[in-house]
Amino acid sequence: MKKKIVLTGLIVAMAVSCMACSSKKESNELVMATNAEFPPYEYLEGSDFRGIDVEIAQAIADDLGKELVIEDMAFDSVITSVQSGKADIGLAGLTVNEDRLKNVDFSDTYTTARQVIITKKGSDIKTVDDLEGKLIGVQLGTTGDIYAEDVKDATVERYNKGFEAVQALSQGKIDVVIIDNEPAKVFASQNEEIEILEEEFRVEEYAIAVKKGNDELVKQINESLNKLEESGELQEIIDKYINKE
Ligand code: ARG
Repeated sequence: MKKKIVLTGLIVAMAVSCMACSSKKESNELVMATNAEFPPYEYLEGSDFRGIDVEIAQAIADDLGKELVIEDMAFDSVITSVQSGKADIGLAGLTVNEDRLKNVDFSDTYTTARQVIITKKGSDIKTVDDLEGKLIGVQLGTTGDIYAEDVKDATVERYNKGFEAVQALSQGKIDVVIIDNEPAKVFASQNEEIEILEEEFRVEEYAIAVKKGNDELVKQINESLNKLEESGELQEIIDKYINKE
């Protein structure tokens, strides 16, 4: 009988201490889901995470007195891991759209972006209209993927990384890549064979995804974003990674 009581006591003590440790962990960490394949917003330099989103997340975490923890994953897992609560925030050059708003909430937007078309130099594709019937490469689950689906008679090739789509383009396996403008510029600067079409395509807004109903965190993030904007720090972060023409 005595043994049983001791054992129960032990289990209770363990449960309490574990509850304490997990709640401590929750309150101190800000877990960010991302896909670090998207320069200049998020990418790996050796084993270090770099980029605009990484620095914004760090600044927000600092402001909230939390420790930033970055979880790198496939792009199409970013929203679901926020939805399930595995991550607190999704920061991955995420475009706000109707579909995603059904699954997560978003902070205020922090930047404007465009979708662009990358072609091989000398290609006969000069405008969006020329995409009809073509082989279009995209990163799986991105807004570029969604737009490509709407192109008449086109075949969509989906890659895990934007970079892989660009590689396939330079190898002549596909005709174009649809991707966000800043990553497109980075990829084009590393590859002489490709170029970005001038034509203005879709304009989008990036924001931070938060689990649905977590209004408190959205409010805190928006307050931090506001501070970063007013102090000029947000612009400094962006300017550090994006050269103004
Ligand atoms: N802005 C696009 C979207 O939301 C592409 C984002 C890709 N981001 C990334 N980290 N791979 O679908």
